[in-house]
Amino acid sequence: VEIILIAAISLDGCITRHGEHGTAWTSAADEEHFRRQLAGFDAHVFGSGTYDAERSRIRGALTTARRRVVMTRSPARYAGEELAGALEFTDEPVEAIADRLRADGHRRLAVLGGNVAYRAFLASRLLDEVVLTLEPRVFGMGTRLAGDAIAIDASLRLTEVTHLDESTLLLRYRMPGSA
Ligand SMILES: NC(=O)c1ccc[n+]([C@@H]2O[C@H](COP(=O)([O-])OP(=O)(O)OC[C@H]3O[C@@H](n4cnc5c(N)ncnc54)[C@H](OP(=O)(O)O)[C@@H]3O)[C@@H](O)[C@H]2O)c1
Repeated sequence: VEIILIAAISLDGCITRHGEHGTAWTSAADEEHFRRQLAGFDAHVFGSGTYDAERSRIRGALTTARRRVVMTRSPARYAGEELAGALEFTDEPVEAIADRLRADGHRRLAVLGGNVAYRAFLASRLLDEVVLTLEPRVFGMGTRLAGDAIAIDASLRLTEVTHLDESTLLLRYRMPGSA
């Protein structure tokens, strides 16, 4: 399974504006690009914080054509919210999630945040690609892409720079060891 991290970040590396939930601060160009890009994945993974923040949007778009995996230390808290083949809650480590999706025949997994999910995948050797939308914003305060809980030292190879609009860049990187 190919595993691709997708995030919108500010110039100072924030994935949230201050303590606010949601990504209302991202550009219309990113919103459009993000939607188009997601159609190319048959599985999505995100943390429970992102699920809670985007719950109605996520639940409104559930389909068995695209499996959603939510990372939580307490799957029991979401009992009754699962939908077979479309939405599940797990406390497995990312390696087990990837193995399970691969065994079930999934081919492209999008890692959609927030910082717990990003950090877990960035710290693993599982990622193939990182796709960032760099928004021309500076927040000073906010949740950082990989948080500040553990040290990570990854060197990536830039493979694409695209202007999504006048001031917003799409940056695509391959992870080390990835073809
Ligand atoms: N800019 C972007 O591209 C982007 C993308 C996605 C999200 N966001 C924003 O980011 C915010 C949500 O991010 P978030 O910080 O809440 O991160 P998150 O990764 O969405 O979820 C964090 C939660 O994951 C759960 N979790 C699962 N496994 C864990 C583990 N091993 N250790 C610790 N916690 C674990 C914890 O809740 P449990 O109690 O359930 O275990 C934790 O609170 C939202 O505001 C969202 O809108 C931005």
